[in-house]
Amino acid sequence: MAGGISKILYQAYMKWHPIPLPPADAFKDQVVLVTGGTSGLGLATAVHFVNFGASEVIITSRDSSRAKTALATIKRETSGRSNGRVRVMDLDMSRYSSVVSFAREVKKIRQGRGGLDCVILNAGVAGVDFKLADEGWEQNIQVNALSTALLALFLLPWLKAERVHRSAPAHLAVVSSSQHLEPDIRAWKEWAAASGGVLRHFNRPENWPGPDGMYAATKLMAHYAVDELAETALGPDGRPEVIVNTMCPGIVNSDLPRYFAEKGVGFAVGTAIFMGLVSKSPSNGARTYLAACLTEESEHGKFIRFYGSEAEYQKQADGVRTSEAGRKMRVQVLSEMRADFAAKAPDASGLLGS
Ligand SMILES: NC(=O)c1ccc[n+]([C@@H]2O[C@H](COP(=O)([O-])OP(=O)(O)OC[C@H]3O[C@@H](n4cnc5c(N)ncnc54)[C@H](OP(=O)(O)O)[C@@H]3O)[C@@H](O)[C@H]2O)c1
Repeated sequence: MAGGISKILYQAYMKWHPIPLPPADAFKDQVVLVTGGTSGLGLATAVHFVNFGASEVIITSRDSSRAKTALATIKRETSGRSNGRVRVMDLDMSRYSSVVSFAREVKKIRQGRGGLDCVILNAGVAGVDFKLADEGWEQNIQVNALSTALLALFLLPWLKAERVHRSAPAHLAVVSSSQHLEPDIRAWKEWAAASGGVLRHFNRPENWPGPDGMYAATKLMAHYAVDELAETALGPDGRPEVIVNTMCPGIVNSDLPRYFAEKGVGFAVGTAIFMGLVSKSPSNGARTYLAACLTEESEHGKFIRFYGSEAEYQKQADGVRTSEAGRKMRVQVLSEMRADFAAKAPDASGLLGS
């Protein structure tokens, strides 16, 4: 309990003491991609990238009017410097077909030219009630875990192949949350046996663990996919050909709790008060994203966050990621993901490994 309160207080501290910004030319002439650029952290990151010199910033949207508003915001917050430098592409992560066609379009833009300098897979959702997305999976599972993993699976081999055209490795950063440390994977093991899979267990309305539980579970699922990708990003000399990271910006006052209003006024007001007290602005939180695009090769595979010590994180991560039980659960979750991609996104089959 005391630990929980001190963590929340530290989040409030970060609101007033942001991590430093990078040098003014940190992203000079770079071509970068942020999924989910229409609000919150993705939008704020796009603004930072323009202000820090990127020559092209690709954002994604699933709604043209939200895209238009986002473009106007970026223009305003960069004093017009975004003109001709921001490209909006369609991506709806509730459908595999959209993920596949988006990945194809992105590759065309920079094929044979070093690919992208930094890719941030940021689009995510925090559903408050059980709701199925188009592919038949609960929406958090679909967007945060499955589609994020599929998009990373498409982009990583391409970024790796483009390494020969670059002077330094590209970055692939996947937005997670410290909440990925919360699930009890001993229970997952039992559920997988009883339901024919972990994802299947969570895909039953009667097993809905609540908004926090579902969000945390899907962030851990995504972590398993990224851990696997980080291993495949290594070249024959053991050095990363793409620097892969996961990250958490801390508590940020974004549109993420937008569905909380569906739970009633009390819930929405409570959330707003809590966020007002402890959360940082998207612009502040997006500094973590910039840091994740500037990591060194030695930080490949690291979970980037600017609160809590690395030793503390490693101890907690052992329970869900690095221990034998964590590694076995990763194999289990990945085999479930692969089966779904093979069935519903056959274009990805060559990328999936065994
Ligand atoms: N806010 C926090 O405290 C916090 C903390 C840790 C991690 N995160 C993570 O940070 C990321 C960004 O969240 P945020 O806080 O900035 O929330 P946000 O303001 O709600 O932004 C989410 C973005 O993802 C997009 N998105 C949602 N569902 C999508 C779908 N099916 N297909 C394509 N794009 C979709 C949204 O697009 P639309 O505009 O079309 O809805 C929006 O651009 C998420 O991965 C979240 O889990 C947030």
